[in-house]
Amino acid sequence: MVEPRDPRTQSEGVVAGYPQTARRWPSQPLVVRPHDAGELSGPAKLERRLPPSKADLAGRGAHRALGQLIHLRARVVDEDGVPVSGALVEIWHCNSAGKYLHPNDASDSPPDPNFQGNARLVAGDGGLVELRTIKPAAYAVPDSDGWWRPPHIHFSVWGRVWLSRLVTQMFFPGDPLNDHDAILNAVRDPEARARCIAKFVPTASGPAHLRQGALVYEYQLVVRGRKAAPRMP
Ligand SMILES: [Fe+2]
Repeated sequence: MVEPRDPRTQSEGVVAGYPQTARRWPSQPLVVRPHDAGELSGPAKLERRLPPSKADLAGRGAHRALGQLIHLRARVVDEDGVPVSGALVEIWHCNSAGKYLHPNDASDSPPDPNFQGNARLVAGDGGLVELRTIKPAAYAVPDSDGWWRPPHIHFSVWGRVWLSRLVTQMFFPGDPLNDHDAILNAVRDPEARARCIAKFVPTASGPAHLRQGALVYEYQLVVRGRKAAPRMP
């Protein structure tokens, strides 16, 4: 039995000043229903339909993306802290100028032809997903009157059951924009907000081929239960 979430640990949903959120969140109160096979089963052999990619968005040599190299160690766990090995984890973020590799990004920030933009990885033993990439930049939210998103990384997780499907965002420690971000601060519980922020690891750790010349960040992503990461589109 999964303990119910405290609503303060989740986003308020519709964020004032960010009109897209009104279209992304339910307008009616959620209905509590018992968990049966519909919820407690999951997508089988998903990695066959959604093939994994390389764990490297930054490239190398003449094809190296602009920006500060980071090595991300994200651990996917369930409500009891048990690793969700085999989870399919999709990760995407903007480049070092704040531009997404997506047609909906109409900003005049320059694209980076060497930046891959997104990855799809399978969590290994220990629920661990490792990615070599560059630190994303902050970017101005269009039509927002001065709201800048802090650097952040989007995660979509397909766990073993449908209930562990989760879309959230990871933030970087110490960024002054974190305190002003409408999406992060739509989570009212400060401890739950803190769980959205990765930990900088000053000592090099992880496989050498991934951490070479990169700053290491660790992030724990809880997919279910009271400490579940907030849903952030
Ligand atoms: Fe974003």
